[in-house]
Amino acid sequence: MLFFKKKRIDLKELFPKGFVDIHSHLLPGIDDGAKDINQSIDLIKKMRSYGIKNFITTPHVLGDVYPNSSILIKEKLNVVQEALEKQQIKDITIRAAAEYMMDEQFVSLLEKKDILTLKDNYVLVEMSYFSAPFNLFEILFELQLKGYKPVLAHPERYNFYHNDLDHFYKLKKAGCLFQLNLLSLTKQYGTQVQKTSSKLLQENLYDFVGTDTHHSMHLELLQEIGTEKIQQSIAHLLENNKMFL
Ligand SMILES: [Fe+2]
Repeated sequence: MLFFKKKRIDLKELFPKGFVDIHSHLLPGIDDGAKDINQSIDLIKKMRSYGIKNFITTPHVLGDVYPNSSILIKEKLNVVQEALEKQQIKDITIRAAAEYMMDEQFVSLLEKKDILTLKDNYVLVEMSYFSAPFNLFEILFELQLKGYKPVLAHPERYNFYHNDLDHFYKLKKAGCLFQLNLLSLTKQYGTQVQKTSSKLLQENLYDFVGTDTHHSMHLELLQEIGTEKIQQSIAHLLENNKMFL
């Protein structure tokens, strides 16, 4: 029935001019995102076709799994910037920070203040999908004592918080800003994640959004967020992301 049909919109209409994607895995061969420079460029071009032209890409920094140093991340960023230049792609800006797992290694990077920020003092952090670190609130306290502002990646994806909204209020109270994964609004991570993201939206707990793009499949799925209803619910967050330009 036509009445129930969602009103679709083009992603180019959804993303405002000056929007910055603050969460993605576009640097070649250093995490579970782009495997090589060709994939990096293809992902960027695809997102450009959606109207996303500014990126702060955020490779994982995660213990021994992805022990990416700040120096390596900067080197890989250079590789991408040079490839874009070589291909005469001039309407894209790309910088790099990181998505830090809040583990012991992160605590020692913090002690050295060897942290790549999204902009100014904003730091993108995540935790395991199985459980929060036992010293989570100490880490968040320490981070802010050093002058940083934690931006918690995809809070809706931590299943162990799904049963009680109070967990999220506690994190906000402890100084966390929240970054919604746009794909959480689809069924990509399951219906519980989707439900939690709409609850957190209703409660007005989010501050920013990110695509968390790892590969081209994510970008195919991203087209599903092109509806008027979703546009209305996240327009203010898309605007907030402009502050990272
Ligand atoms: Fe990520």
